[in-house]
Amino acid sequence: MPPFPSFPAGFVFGAATASYQIEGATHEDGRGPSIWDTYSHTPGRIDGGDTGDVACDHYHRYPQDVALLRDLGVGSYRFSIAWPRIQPTGQGPANLQGLDFYSRLVDELLAAGIEPAATLYHWDLPQALEDRGGWRVRETAERFAAYTAVVADHLADRVPRWITLNEPWCSAFLGYSVGRHAPGAQEGTGALAAAHHLLVGHGLAMRALRAAGVREAGITLNLDRNLPATDSAADRAAVVRADTQHNLVWTEPLLAGRYPDTETETWGELITRQDFRYDGDLELIAQPMDFLGVNYYRPTVVADAPHRESDPALRVATDNRFTERPYPDVRHTAMGWPVAPETFTDLLTSLKETYGDALPPVHITENGSAEPDEVTADGTVHDTDRVTYLRDHLTALRTAMDAGVDVRGYYVWSLLDNFEWALGYAKRFGIVHVDYATQRRTPKDSYHWYGKLIASHQG
Ligand code: FCB
Repeated sequence: MPPFPSFPAGFVFGAATASYQIEGATHEDGRGPSIWDTYSHTPGRIDGGDTGDVACDHYHRYPQDVALLRDLGVGSYRFSIAWPRIQPTGQGPANLQGLDFYSRLVDELLAAGIEPAATLYHWDLPQALEDRGGWRVRETAERFAAYTAVVADHLADRVPRWITLNEPWCSAFLGYSVGRHAPGAQEGTGALAAAHHLLVGHGLAMRALRAAGVREAGITLNLDRNLPATDSAADRAAVVRADTQHNLVWTEPLLAGRYPDTETETWGELITRQDFRYDGDLELIAQPMDFLGVNYYRPTVVADAPHRESDPALRVATDNRFTERPYPDVRHTAMGWPVAPETFTDLLTSLKETYGDALPPVHITENGSAEPDEVTADGTVHDTDRVTYLRDHLTALRTAMDAGVDVRGYYVWSLLDNFEWALGYAKRFGIVHVDYATQRRTPKDSYHWYGKLIASHQG
């Protein structure tokens, strides 16, 4: 194994999780239902019929999980706060038992010398708000800001790093267009309105975080590295539409204060109805951030394709005349995702080229791989492919930093195997194995490898 990549002093090594994927305890201490409870309990939605009802039982086992983080040596832990624990119906007074859980978690982290990094929204919208229109309606953005103010009021003094939204692309487009995530809708304008209201919600939440005096605030995006299947003009134009839908719809308003100039060629008639955009929204959305969170897993090969639905009135927002092609000649993870670390470097350097000084410092808030892990008879998990994946992506990240991208931290996804959304428990992303029958945690080789990498930067 080649030597570890080395990072500058002060670089943050972390690990990440999300509330619905690990907590369980969905009916405890006053938590209300979220769209993921509803969705996962709808027959046929989740592989294996899995739900987050128990998950990793982290709600009860968090001290043990924090001990795993402490032994790993991470400087920071990224977790998310379940909105329906704080406001069971998405509005109204705070549920103190819900707040208390996160307060205890934060205290446990601080006692272990780990900086908490809190995500306010990792997809578990209170179901009551979905019943009022969800992210299709502006009210949800306003409710999100009110919830943010409640949480920040209780935790701002102890949580230095705040992430408003995790991967709004998934919330808007997987949730309201593809229908593979909660709430499972397949819409055109509804999904575009959702995208905009998520950005408005981010802007309003940034204001609430500033008012609470937090040290650092930003957003996490899953940015795609889209590559043309061939050099044809048609495939290159397809990449522009894919970039618009995945990346520019977020980065242009957030970092440049404008809507993408490629939106009409991407969405045609769907985007001409813009009554959800209000004067002043761009200023709100483009408020300076202390960091940009980037989640990166894999590149996508894109080819030109006809609309899937010939009737424009029936098109969903992701029906943008492109299709995905296989990425040739590389290993693929258990997700079927191609492993191509150099595309991680390219994504980051191209982001810097596009936005220059308008690009805030970057935190990699997720990166990792799902592998078919097995616990051996002697209680070890030899996840060699994950170790290689992590090493090569950290090396690619270091290359981007050498090329001038200001990256301040890296959070591995994920501390624990967990509920991988529509794919249920079958896909394991953890550096710690979870036996769901016994809740036994077994650190994998990748955990030990990552711990050594972190230790090589100390002292
Ligand atoms: C990201 C999500 C995270 C996890 C990883 C594999 O899209 O933010 O919760 O599911 O993918």
